Amino acid sequence: MINLVKNLSVYNRRTKSSVIRELLKLTNQPGIISLAGGLPAPDLFPVETMREVVNSVLDKYSAAALQYGATEGTPELKAELVKLLKETEGLDLKPENILITTASQQGLDLIGKTFIDASDPILVELPSYIGGLQAFKSYGAEMIGVKCDDDGLLLENLELKLQKLLEEEEHYKFIYVVPDFQNPSGVTMSQKRREQLIKMSEKYDVLIIEDSPYRQIRFEGKAPDMLYKLDKSSNVISVFTFSKIFVPGLRLGFMIGHEEIIKKLSKMKQSLDLCTSPFNQLIAAEFLKGGYLPSHIEKINASYKSKKDAMLNALQEYMPKVEGISWTKPEGGLFLWLRLPEHIDTEVLFYEAIKKQVAFVIGSAFYCDKTGNNTMRLNFSYPSEEQIDEGIKRLALVVKKFL
Ligand SMILES: Cc1ncc(COP(=O)(O)O)c(C=O)c1O
Repeated sequence: MINLVKNLSVYNRRTKSSVIRELLKLTNQPGIISLAGGLPAPDLFPVETMREVVNSVLDKYSAAALQYGATEGTPELKAELVKLLKETEGLDLKPENILITTASQQGLDLIGKTFIDASDPILVELPSYIGGLQAFKSYGAEMIGVKCDDDGLLLENLELKLQKLLEEEEHYKFIYVVPDFQNPSGVTMSQKRREQLIKMSEKYDVLIIEDSPYRQIRFEGKAPDMLYKLDKSSNVISVFTFSKIFVPGLRLGFMIGHEEIIKKLSKMKQSLDLCTSPFNQLIAAEFLKGGYLPSHIEKINASYKSKKDAMLNALQEYMPKVEGISWTKPEGGLFLWLRLPEHIDTEVLFYEAIKKQVAFVIGSAFYCDKTGNNTMRLNFSYPSEEQIDEGIKRLALVVKKFL
């Protein structure tokens, strides 16, 4: 075999395998209650509706459904998305503002491919979505972490970092945020912070990447405006996916932005996959046209709300009542964030938890500055309510041992 050290590209060497994927291998053992993954509940997938929709696509489009398609996406799906985003978010979009992607992970990779040169600084939340960090790092981005609280990004901290970069004559490329029910923390950025963030993007002439897979998974409370809606300077690119509100197996997502930006992103997509599966795009278009999405989202939200409440109740009941232990109380999404006293390292605690047959994701995996050792992400969408109760009970026993 060739010498891999000598022959691999910098790009390949720079890309680290995700910590989550490595840890998830341990969590798949039989008997383990996993609060670790980020999967939607498969029992909610609309299998019967899919059967009808797939047949209808084949009847309507026949062989054309199985042909290559345009890199930007099929017109049928783009037209449905224009309607959907008008109705749900009040956005006035043209098809040229949309790029269909092979789910949102491809959208994040495209952002990296389009904007990042090696050593370019980008600003990310502390903590942030690990798949985004991984995509940007592979293009050589220099990650600069910005502190967050339960209302999202701390803008004073962001401004300090932007000013420092300007003084050092470093050209920052973008600010990456997951503003709705963030993965991993479950936190939603408040309306005020969003308005301030948009002002800051104008003041510092910086692009904002709004990655929002969980926005529609809201159980309670009122949704703040999308950053894209608040932005009047075309400084925002939004990245969306059908993975959490429909099915991840279609690998379907989309990006919205100024049409000049969409053209640049689309050019980069050509070499990735020519086009996202036209068949899958027509399935999604037919699903939207048939009006199935709102009731499906309603069903998901009812189930996840009940699971979220089960997790909050279990935490309240079983977790030791000591200073330093707290958790977020999200109004939607798939995750909740547990903070333990500073001296506890959740990576050490993880192996103990595995022995007690319960798994979570260590918080430090989501911090670009390797902090967050005393935190963990807990998922409530995939396990059953009984598993959530038992899983938190087991986890609380392990935490007690570490206090
Ligand atoms: C914040 C965020 N962005 C992007 C993704 C990627 O999802 P997909 O590629 O399935 O659209 C995820 C998946 O969990 C996520 O949490």
